[in-house]
Amino acid sequence: MCSHPNPSEIQLEARWCPSPVLGIESSCDETAAAVLSREGIVLSNVVSSQVTIHEKFGGVVPELAARAHLEKIDMVVREALVTAQVSKHALGALAVTQGPGLAGSLLVGVNYAKALSYGLGIPIIGINHLQGHIASAWLTDPTFPLPCIVLVVSGGHTHLYRHEVDGRCILLGRTRDDAAGEAFDKGAQMLGLGYPGGPAVDRIARSGDLQAFRFPRFHRTKNNLEFSFSGLKTALLYKLREMDGPLRSHQTADLAASYQEAIVQVLATKAFAALKQSNMAALAVVGGVSANSRLRAVLSERAVREGIRLVLPPIGYCTDNAAMIAAAGRQLLMNGERPHADLDSSPAERFVTILDENRAHIGFSTLRGKEKTNS
Ligand code: KG4
Ligand code: ZN
Repeated sequence: MCSHPNPSEIQLEARWCPSPVLGIESSCDETAAAVLSREGIVLSNVVSSQVTIHEKFGGVVPELAARAHLEKIDMVVREALVTAQVSKHALGALAVTQGPGLAGSLLVGVNYAKALSYGLGIPIIGINHLQGHIASAWLTDPTFPLPCIVLVVSGGHTHLYRHEVDGRCILLGRTRDDAAGEAFDKGAQMLGLGYPGGPAVDRIARSGDLQAFRFPRFHRTKNNLEFSFSGLKTALLYKLREMDGPLRSHQTADLAASYQEAIVQVLATKAFAALKQSNMAALAVVGGVSANSRLRAVLSERAVREGIRLVLPPIGYCTDNAAMIAAAGRQLLMNGERPHADLDSSPAERFVTILDENRAHIGFSTLRGKEKTNS
């Protein structure tokens, strides 16, 4: 049995004893809490969405998001514990999203977790949101192999990594402008499909013809693993101006399907190019956009054809959730990461970048403000 030290002693603990972990996520517009068992099984995964608050504004309003997190967080955490049938006194650690994200929203989650950690005398570990998304790949497939290629596609990120056996994630390429999720959201807005845009485009595209319009597929240069989606968005804008007038529903569906196809094909092409360049046969695709039905179909079909082991988390683990945060925290603790008493939120993207073979790689460990450099 592990006995829990008081918080001032927590950081001196050399080894962490496996026990249930509570994850908390509040980086954007979802208040989430989840409990993982001592073996790493998801016992509960509660998400309170703020869609109804933000939809009338066509996007997330940061002040409203922070206020809603404040109102919901205690209830969401309690529900996660009740569903998991785990008493808060049985928890061995807390994992909380530290950043990147909306400053006010992150503050709510981090301060709530700090108070809980102090009250219970258990360690707290800060998680980089991207690290959480990456961990979601192993939530339902713990046997997924390393090394592998990971594509993170969310509202703020489109990053390709080579995930090494030792846990390091080497950045192979990223978007130079908009993220894939942003391209979906902005495209949806132009098409009058509202917020959140990705699921709306996905839905309407199912009844459209993906070859009706030819939108540009920006690959930058051949064999390059960088992305660019801002030109695609401009192309849709020009197409809409050219069509000039209220769209018939089949036109909206065709535009959505063709626009989506341009995003999907670029993502798939780059992900498979990364596999080839790194001589790897395992691909994980994570983040909100990995919920896209067309992307999932294209990747799955190509993976079967090319003998690639593919993991696509179930939809509930693609979009923001706390199970992935708890999983990332548990993994770090199992690897000997020491929690930090002076944990603070980090809204800006702060990764360690170390030059390795002329490539920047991310040191995915707990962010400790002053020790790390911005990338
Ligand atoms: O990971 P996530 O929930 O939050 C961030 O970390 O950003 O990703 C949100 C993004 C949004 O841009 C949303 O439109 C997109 O994921 N998304 C989708 C789908 N579901 C969510 N994009 C395309 N198709 C979907 N089905
Ligand atoms: Zn996310």
